Amino acid sequence: MKKLPRTKTRQPARTVSIIGTGSYVPEKIITNADLEKMVDTNEEWITSRTGIRERRIAAEGEHTSHMAARAAERAMEQAGITAEDIDLIILATVTPDTFFPSTACHVQRLLGARKAACFDISAACSGFLYGIEVAQQFISNHTCNTILVIGADKLSSIVNWQDRNTCVLFGDGAGAAILRYRAGSHGVITTFMGSDGNYGDILHMPGGGCALPVTKENFEQRLNTLHMNGRETFKQAVTSMLAAANKALEQSGLTIEDLTCIIPHQANLRIIEALAERLNLPLSKFQINLDRYGNTSAAAVAIALDEANRTGRFKQGDYILMVVFGGGLTYASSVVQW
Ligand code: ACO
Repeated sequence: MKKLPRTKTRQPARTVSIIGTGSYVPEKIITNADLEKMVDTNEEWITSRTGIRERRIAAEGEHTSHMAARAAERAMEQAGITAEDIDLIILATVTPDTFFPSTACHVQRLLGARKAACFDISAACSGFLYGIEVAQQFISNHTCNTILVIGADKLSSIVNWQDRNTCVLFGDGAGAAILRYRAGSHGVITTFMGSDGNYGDILHMPGGGCALPVTKENFEQRLNTLHMNGRETFKQAVTSMLAAANKALEQSGLTIEDLTCIIPHQANLRIIEALAERLNLPLSKFQINLDRYGNTSAAAVAIALDEANRTGRFKQGDYILMVVFGGGLTYASSVVQW
């Protein structure tokens, strides 16, 4: 019988490492004091209920793809690769430049990453870790060698700036990582992903899609802006992040004591405090930057990862846990040996 050719998937699975990270936030800062002039709110309420002090807002004409490309350039520089080395660009966002082309394709053009295939992921704030898992699969089964994963959002473009319940929470930014096989390293040990579509309406943008296309009436009702049930989202966030963290630890065979650093989604300091308490960990183990950037959606965990990496919060060989939740509902967690 004729012998079948060796297929890609018959090769042994490869371990996948994050070999570079980068991030970008716009220059313009909106402080809590600035928001006091825009809606009926006050500095004390925002700081005590959320931990957020200021957020960055994209400039006129600065799109999700522009922020993503800046973050990607920094990640490529750290990884020591060029745009030509990239086989695949995966970009997580809920604020794409256009429905199509994908924002990943816009980034490809900006970077000159001619050889890359490109697509977007829609998993709200969980999108960056969903992207890490997809990249891990593509590299470990030899489909790709070098993948750029980006989390980028311009939430200022879909926030209702007259709604004090939401406008104080969000900001704009982008974070990126380069993933590649690296011999002799454990890299991404495991990623857990989950979703629950039954809770879709606690955090969503009802209009703008084919279910409710933009009409004058919809626009006037602000259906093309972000809507949120804050209390329910808070509850679901704590529950799902705790479950995801425990699941990733179980899958990796590690215990909480093995972790050097936890990088959580940056939505609300009280959510992170609740998670720390339930995991029985001091808050000092968590990388937190929401006081400076607010919730940047898919970018949040990616920016925090880059800041932790660049400030030496962990060294090669250390174990870190990233854990996120977002609209959908979606949630995810990754254990990485750096
Ligand atoms: N300034 C002043 N008062 C406010 C403001 C504000 N900016 N926003 C709400 N309030 C008022 C409310 O109207 C309410 O008043 P009332 O009691 O007279 O009705 C009061 O403050 C308390 O409201 P709560 O909703 O109970 O406040 P809570 O302590 O739950 O905090 C918050 C609200 C910050 C939104 C919190 O619930 C939260 O963080 N939820 C999770 C949000 C989140 O993580 N979203 C992002 C998800 S990730 C993604 O995919 C994008």
